[in-house]
Amino acid sequence: MYSVGNRFRIGLFGKSHADCVGCIVGGLPVGMRIDRDHLAERMRLRKPSEGIGTPRKEDDVPEFEYGVRGDVIVDDTIMIVIRNGNRNSSAYTEFNRTPRPGHADLPALLKFRDYDVSGGAQFSGRMTAPLVAAGALAEQALRERGVRVAAYTKSIYDVVDDAERSFEEIDGSKVHPTRACTPALDSEMNDAILKAKEQKDSVGGIVGCVVTGLKPGDGGIWFDALDSSLARAMFSIPAVKGVEFGKGFGITRMRGSQSNDAYTVVGGRISARSNNMGGICGGMCDGMPVTFNVAFKPTPSIGIEQDTVDLERMCDSKVTVGGRHDPCIVPRAVAVVEAMACITVLDQLMSF
Ligand SMILES: Cc1cc2nc3c(=O)[nH]c(=O)nc-3n(C[C@H](O)[C@H](O)[C@H](O)COP(=O)(O)O)c2cc1C
Repeated sequence: MYSVGNRFRIGLFGKSHADCVGCIVGGLPVGMRIDRDHLAERMRLRKPSEGIGTPRKEDDVPEFEYGVRGDVIVDDTIMIVIRNGNRNSSAYTEFNRTPRPGHADLPALLKFRDYDVSGGAQFSGRMTAPLVAAGALAEQALRERGVRVAAYTKSIYDVVDDAERSFEEIDGSKVHPTRACTPALDSEMNDAILKAKEQKDSVGGIVGCVVTGLKPGDGGIWFDALDSSLARAMFSIPAVKGVEFGKGFGITRMRGSQSNDAYTVVGGRISARSNNMGGICGGMCDGMPVTFNVAFKPTPSIGIEQDTVDLERMCDSKVTVGGRHDPCIVPRAVAVVEAMACITVLDQLMSF
């Protein structure tokens, strides 16, 4: 089991082609009523969109095996199980000998005795299904505290959304299959994915996320800082290669006089004239919305022949990936980024 959290804790278990994936969740308020419609909607958003996602179809219905009666949480600890219905391991057998570049195959095969690549095993994107379920419950608990989280697709390959987006625009991205903020960007991003897919290739991109409703001082410090905890959570999502807060790496091209977010009083409340820090100073929220971007690499499994090694003969070899894969992870990852943000922020509020 893989665990994270202090007061709000998650223990993740399962494998892509095992009977199930799931998680144990500790710390939700006893007596909290689960909003099943909201949970189902969040699970739907992680599912592949027609044409631009993997053809693997799963029901992805979270089952509460412990700690929930009816719709009510009745124990400090609950257990969520999601069955793996659609398993076909035959397409993966060869990767135990000729590992896929870019995936976890090679290090996992060399590290774990009896490791079986089937479906990507515990490194599969499938492991994010229970995280989205747990994230939906965390989001419901955050609502009670006036905290809201939303994510969207900021870029796919060379199609980039450079506009400053409001919370409502970001939340509205959910109606588009690529999770872009506008129909025009959705169409362009869709085309970029289809073009890569036609060429048996894949593309990556950036997910943008915003958290509103946090108060100045919310969050831990040092190793438990809000930004370090969010970064750790985001880097735990498979295929993530970068995380930046506010202006991120762009802040290195500014002077302090430009990058500092000048404070001002608006209607009796302290605010800032800009949000280059992404709402975090000293690891704590400074009262502005917390904003960050998460970079996803192109899906490693591609149909183009690539160089690899033959682990039995210890010589150079080739591999071509068939089977069912997402030509772009980003649209599905939007729900995962939201979920991990909710899990992390709830834990921060409960712990510090
Ligand atoms: C929602 C989601 C779906 C994914 N789908 C695929 C896929 O279809 N094929 C694939 O090769 N990798 C997929 N991945 C990425 C791999 O799981 C990931 O690249 C692999 O575990 C190696 O980990 P790393 O990229 O973090 O180093 C997906 C990731 C996520 C978050």
